[in-house]
Amino acid sequence: MTTSKGRVVLPGYRRENADPPYLSPDYMATRTRSPERPLIPLAHSLSEITGPVFGHERVGELDHDLTRQHAGEPLGERIILHGRVLDGDGRAVQNTLIELWQANAAGRYRHDVDRHPAPLDPYFGGGGRCMTDDEGRYRFVTVKPGAYPWRNHENAWRAAHIHLSLFGPAFATRLVTQMYFPGDPLFSQDPIFNSVRDPKHRELMISSFDLSQTVPEWALAYEFDIVLRGREATPSEG
Ligand SMILES: [Fe+2]
Repeated sequence: MTTSKGRVVLPGYRRENADPPYLSPDYMATRTRSPERPLIPLAHSLSEITGPVFGHERVGELDHDLTRQHAGEPLGERIILHGRVLDGDGRAVQNTLIELWQANAAGRYRHDVDRHPAPLDPYFGGGGRCMTDDEGRYRFVTVKPGAYPWRNHENAWRAAHIHLSLFGPAFATRLVTQMYFPGDPLFSQDPIFNSVRDPKHRELMISSFDLSQTVPEWALAYEFDIVLRGREATPSEG
């Protein structure tokens, strides 16, 4: 496009970024931890590029199965969580470490600062990990996490969620997100869920119930694909 003064003006485009802003005032913790000044890009140093990377050999046989990591089975609704890790062109991201952490079925984390008066489960640790396969697929066996209160505002409850991390080729490339369950009645009052502003981007954080992968008389299943880039990119936390 050329203006009357002969200047060339390039047509603009809106950059799609599904990630939530650093500052989401309704999500109280972001008021103090969000940066107040522009970020400074830092070039990668040798240590970031050549630093430790989790190798396949370090992932144990039961790391993906949170129902078999202790002497007995955890209480709760057993679920299979599976999906693919894809890049912006829909190609599988193979052999990448995916980590998971979550509350137990009563909504309690096995963590020192979790003071929610719900029971801990001696048979549930809440952490798991696995590597994606040649098709970018991952699969966890766990229990459905409970909702939990978190004092962000009056009568604040987190929608049930599972935290997921993709390690990438180095620690500096790590991406962290949260996965939700379809139809959760707490979505509307959860400022972390709603810190992703665009409703269609929020949909990308909600898993699908997957009848095809349920195990009869044993477990329900949910599917959650993680897309790293592009219009379908899964929102990630800063
Ligand atoms: Fe959480």
